Amino acid sequence: MCGRPRSGFELVKDPSSEQREPRRGPVFLFRPLWTTNTPCNIERMSAQDFAIAIMAAGKGTRLKSKRPKVLHEVGGKPLLAHVIAAAVQVVPPENIYVIIGHQAERVRTVVAVAFVHFVLQAEQRGTGHAIQTARNELQPFSNFLVLSGDAPLIQPDTIRRMRDFHTSQQAAMTILTALPADPTGYGRVLREGSTDRVAAIVEQKSLRPEQSNVGEINSGFYGFSSKAVFSNIDRLTTENPHGEYYLTDMAGLLVAEGHKVVAIRSQDPDEVLGGNTIAELVGLDARMRMRKARSLMSQGVTVFAPESCVIDEEVVVGADTTIEPFVQLLGKTTIGENCRIRSYSVISNSRIASEVTVRPGCIVDESSVSSGATLGPYSHIRPGSEIGQGAHVGNFVETKKVRMGRGSKANHLTYLGDAEIGSGVNVGAGTITCNYDGVDKHKTIIEDDAFIGSDSTLVAPVKIGRGAYVGAASCITADVPTDSLAIGRGTQVVKEGWAKRKREERSLKQDGSTKG
Ligand code: UD1
Ligand code: CA
Repeated sequence: MCGRPRSGFELVKDPSSEQREPRRGPVFLFRPLWTTNTPCNIERMSAQDFAIAIMAAGKGTRLKSKRPKVLHEVGGKPLLAHVIAAAVQVVPPENIYVIIGHQAERVRTVVAVAFVHFVLQAEQRGTGHAIQTARNELQPFSNFLVLSGDAPLIQPDTIRRMRDFHTSQQAAMTILTALPADPTGYGRVLREGSTDRVAAIVEQKSLRPEQSNVGEINSGFYGFSSKAVFSNIDRLTTENPHGEYYLTDMAGLLVAEGHKVVAIRSQDPDEVLGGNTIAELVGLDARMRMRKARSLMSQGVTVFAPESCVIDEEVVVGADTTIEPFVQLLGKTTIGENCRIRSYSVISNSRIASEVTVRPGCIVDESSVSSGATLGPYSHIRPGSEIGQGAHVGNFVETKKVRMGRGSKANHLTYLGDAEIGSGVNVGAGTITCNYDGVDKHKTIIEDDAFIGSDSTLVAPVKIGRGAYVGAASCITADVPTDSLAIGRGTQVVKEGWAKRKREERSLKQDGSTKG
């Protein structure tokens, strides 16, 4: 429509998200891969074009939270971000209108996607009022779809099915429905017999006793003909238990006016579930995690005890990799083939190549690990670490902004920060790169095949030359030339017989005091 491609997004980190939610890690935003900033010309829109309105203005009173409902996270991302991600797969972003209201600016900042519009519903007077608010934006389209910003499991294919059904039926209103195991709390869809035609939607609180056994729920996803809906929407009233303008009342209103209102059922009832309470959000999160684990398993990945693992949606894992119980793979992490990620490891926004073993209890953050490397148990790989092919990083080793070459080893109790370590280097237990002088950070360079004896401190900036040796317990403050030995510690003094004499003196003293 705007003379440029409509697909292709990259995920970029929202720089302020870690500050806001340090426990959850970064939030990712979609940015289109194209760079043109040409504003879209709405006049050039074709009659077949659909708009999508996403209702996201509500406070979420039932969550009892200060955070707006649509910013609560499931699957590592805000509810609304999932719905927008599904919507941009169906229509171009400039046809999407997100209706925001409660803490509007905060919501807009977190979920901003290039070219997606926001519409302000300053006062939230119900879902019907939300669509009234977006009248000017939606009316130019002959049809539009409405999605609920609090139902994050929705899949693009289901939205497309609803759109196509709406078009083929030439309906005034199409309702996506489902038959969940427990329909409590949802609006119910009253069909005309067993046809596609709908008579009305009745909210849970207004159900008459004889309607209480209707199991088909309103998902909160709809297709509308603009003409039909906007010529009737002002007839909505607030005569209901919540005193709100219900979008659901449009079904009965349109039917009474002789319009066609139809229902299409979602094949997977879970897909349309909404989250109104914390318990429901936790349930959605579990479903999303399980869906992800199943999808990985279908691609040849073994996920043991998947209900204990937390794997974010965008994580990619290669075939023949095994993920043990209680593992978290977060953000934009990729893991290669034939790896083993052992229990209690948390890997975020990192690239792990193939044939890597991550032993229990490792934390890997914004780093890369090359093929055949082994981490852990209990390694802490902090941002900017690049662990080379076949390298070993062992227990209680912390790395930060470190490049570690092929086959190098730091197996025990070590801190390596701001360092460039070549290949074939052996870093002994207890080695510390002293990279910080209280003001600035400095670099340590350890060239290929060097050997750092245990308990050494390397005071940066410092360079250990190729093939050099550092004697154990050295404090290295000056560069060590290639192939040389550096010993930076006091010379050992031996006083023969000293300990024996000391013991004898002590026992003489004790004898004297008991006799006296
Ligand atoms: C709504 C439906 C119900 C359906 C359920 C599916 C109505 C009256 N009821 O109930 O039939 O079974 O969804 O999940 O629509 N919102 C606004 N502005 C407002 C009010 C709400 O944008 O003034 C947004 C909310 O942020 C939310 C969405 O609309 O994302 C749905 O609102 P919510 O209050 O959650 O409706 P439900 O009670 O779940
Ligand atoms: Ca809801």
